[in-house]
Amino acid sequence: MIRLADLFPDNDYRFQLRFERGEPADFFAPTAKHHEVRAERQRWLHSDPKTYAALSPPGEPLLDEVVELAGVWNGFVPPLATTTGQTCRALGGFWEADYLLLKADAAGEIRLYGGCLCFPSSWRLGDKLGQPMEFIHGPVPGLNSCIGAAIHKFLASLKPGVASLRHNWGLARSAELNQHPGRALPQLDAMVSADEVWLRVEHQALVALPKSGGILFGIRVVNHSLAEVKADPVAAARLCRALETMTDAMARYKNLATARERILQLLRS
Ligand code: HEM
Repeated sequence: MIRLADLFPDNDYRFQLRFERGEPADFFAPTAKHHEVRAERQRWLHSDPKTYAALSPPGEPLLDEVVELAGVWNGFVPPLATTTGQTCRALGGFWEADYLLLKADAAGEIRLYGGCLCFPSSWRLGDKLGQPMEFIHGPVPGLNSCIGAAIHKFLASLKPGVASLRHNWGLARSAELNQHPGRALPQLDAMVSADEVWLRVEHQALVALPKSGGILFGIRVVNHSLAEVKADPVAAARLCRALETMTDAMARYKNLATARERILQLLRS
C-alpha cells in the first residue's frame, strides 16, 4: 500500500498522470474490513439500486467479461438465472471496490457504460452514464485542457493482464465512505475541528478488457484522520503545500473554499 507522503508530489499542486503496475487480483482482493465494507455496499445497493448501480446496453459485454475475471481473480460466482442489472449489483456487493465500465465508441470517444458506485466522492453515476471522458471530467477545473488528451491516450493504450494504479485525494468532514451529493452530508468550512477532518484517498486501478475491448476502472476509498496525517511530517508538509498552491477554482471544486485556511492552521498546530 502506498505511503501517505507519496500521495502528494514534492511540488506545488498539479494534476498527475503517474501510474504504478499492480495485479488486478490483488487490487480487488478482500481486506481485513471485508465484512463491514461489503455489508455497507449491499445496504446501499439494496436500498437505492438505481442511484448506486447502472448498466446501459453497450456495458453488457463488458460486465460479462468482468464477471468472468472476478471469478478467476477473487472467486466471484454470479447469481444464476438473473438479469444483467442483478448481476451488476451482485458484483458491486461482492467486491469492496467500486467498479466502472468504459469503452471507446465508433468515433474513438471513451464513454462510461455502467458499474456500481456505492462510495462516490460527490458525484452521481446517473449524471455521467453514456458520457465521454471529457464530459465526465468537465467539473474539474482545468483538467481537460491540461491532461485530457494524455488521459485519452493512456486509456486507449492500456495493455491487458496488469492493473495501472493511481490515487486521488480529497478532504471530507466525516469518514463516511458514501459521500453521494444527495445525502447532503456536512461540508468542511472555516469552523471545522481537527477530529472532523478526514483525508479521503481513492485508490484507483485501470484494467484493459481484451475480449470486449473495454476498460475496468476500480476505486477503493480509504479514510485517514488528520492525526494520522500529522503523525507523518512529510505527508503533512506536502498536504500543506498542495493546499497553499492549488487555484481558488480547484479549492472550490474540492469543497475547500472556506476551509482551506482553517485546515492549514490545524495541520500546523
Ligand atoms: C486515467 C487517468 C485519470 C486521471 C489522471 C484522472 C484525474 C482526475 C482528477 C485529478 C480528478 C479530480 C479529483 C479531485 O481532485 O478531487 C478526477 C475526477 C473525476 N474522475 Fe478522473 N481521472 C482519470 C481517469 C478517470 C476515469 C477512467 C474515470 C471514469 C469514469 C474518471 C472519472 C472521474 C470522475 C467521475 C470524477 C469526478 C468528477 C466530478 O466531480 O463530477 N476518471 N479525475
